[in-house]
Amino acid sequence: MSVTRSFYGNMPDGREVELYSLCDGAYTLQAITLGATLQALYAPDKYGRINDVTVGFDSLSGHLEHSDYQGKTVGRYANRIAGGHFFIGDEETTLVRNEKGLTCLHSAGEFSDAVWDASVTSENSVELSFVSPDGTNGFKGALTAKVRYTLEGGRVTIDYSAVCDRDTVINFTNHTYFNLSGSAGSDVLGHVLQMNAPYFTPTDADSIPTGELRPVRGTAFDFTTPHAIGERINNDDEQLINCKGYDHNFCLSRKPGEADVTVYEPVSGRRLSVFTDLPGVQLYTGNFLDSSVLGKGSLPLVKHAGLCLETQYYPDTPNHTGFPQCFFAAGEEYRSTTVFELSIF
Ligand code: BGC
Repeated sequence: MSVTRSFYGNMPDGREVELYSLCDGAYTLQAITLGATLQALYAPDKYGRINDVTVGFDSLSGHLEHSDYQGKTVGRYANRIAGGHFFIGDEETTLVRNEKGLTCLHSAGEFSDAVWDASVTSENSVELSFVSPDGTNGFKGALTAKVRYTLEGGRVTIDYSAVCDRDTVINFTNHTYFNLSGSAGSDVLGHVLQMNAPYFTPTDADSIPTGELRPVRGTAFDFTTPHAIGERINNDDEQLINCKGYDHNFCLSRKPGEADVTVYEPVSGRRLSVFTDLPGVQLYTGNFLDSSVLGKGSLPLVKHAGLCLETQYYPDTPNHTGFPQCFFAAGEEYRSTTVFELSIF
């Protein structure tokens, strides 16, 4: 096991972005301090060939100019807040509306655009921290967040903790686009997915949850048994048509000892198991990638180049009393852990 630190690049204002590499056997995780981003994850396939199983950018300029949150830590509120506003008690919060002037998506980069501090916490972990000042993008209260990446063989543990000096909502996630084939330039339509998710939250035309928890049974959203991503993605289903594919929150029903989500890629034999303590996961199949941007290896980021499994509270929870709540009082600690475990079959 080893951890190394190196220079990754300079921000336009000169601040330095660092790269940390954690190695354990055949596995390597790289994280950069811009956005506390999971920069790369190298893993063997069933023949022992080692490839990066994440889709993104080689260089800092790629992240700065073309990011669709590839690999980033997103917060303080991942995904959308309708109208960019919500109430805590009688007090309204008004946020930057960075999506079509209508919604606040991924907190308009509050944490994902920040350069975090980093420290090596053990021979196989690195911890990143950032304090977002009161008022950033409209959020009230200075929020201190910590994200720790730990690598044990193919097991990546992401531990989040956060605390705010005012009452707030907190919902951190990681926005890695996985492509288990390890071949850049390919899509994930052949990846096979299973989720312990009996319901999902359908969305309106602006991708805001309607509030309904819809049973997946009998729909293209039923991954309670394994299905290829591409099998039903082009079905004549209003939800899939609106989002150009899967871009939905699934409501997890925890089964003790079982992964919440499993995805495997038949050709490489790589499998990814996801464990989380959060109530939901956003399945986003890279629907808005369109080959116009070059990613790692200078290859185009094609439509469906990767799939994100963003563990989370449901989108727009602050405006839905029926959803599991993510309100944290001033001084109250938020803690959450997500595990991405790679293996071969
Ligand atoms: C959202 C998508 C969005 C993507 C990249 C996902 O979390 O659900 O709608 O396009 O992030 O910004």
